[in-house]
Amino acid sequence: MKRREFFNWVGLGLLASSLPVAIAACSSDTTTTTTASSPAQAATKDWQKVGTVAELDKTGQLLVQDSPIGAVLVVGTSKAAKDVIAVNPTCTHQGCTVAWKANKNHFVCPCHDAEYSGDGKVQKSPAEKPLKTYLAKIESDSVFVKPV
Ligand code: FES
Repeated sequence: MKRREFFNWVGLGLLASSLPVAIAACSSDTTTTTTASSPAQAATKDWQKVGTVAELDKTGQLLVQDSPIGAVLVVGTSKAAKDVIAVNPTCTHQGCTVAWKANKNHFVCPCHDAEYSGDGKVQKSPAEKPLKTYLAKIESDSVFVKPV
């Protein structure tokens, strides 16, 4: 074997042996690990304090945009604590914040006039999906909500 042939064989061998490593390194296939729900995720499934009874009783509405479970609109008063309701006030049409109309007993979106009943169901388009609802309760002087 001539010297030139020897180096060609060695070079080809190196290329062949390193090719799988190079392909593996360039592969976009990445593994992901899934973790069990974190304490923060678990906490958002529990009752969350979103305000005080005094705040709710002032107007019969309590809007909290940045609660641990997202935006929450609580409607009611402590005088009828069992009737307190809570929804995510984000309109399902294009994301405006709905308002509670106590005289009509429903939520109205100021952007395109969609209407939702107290339990979040669509009463008037253009919204097609209901508002997300939460459980709500009053304990001592605090208002709590919890994802359903
Ligand atoms: S964003 Fe509410 S009706 Fe369009």
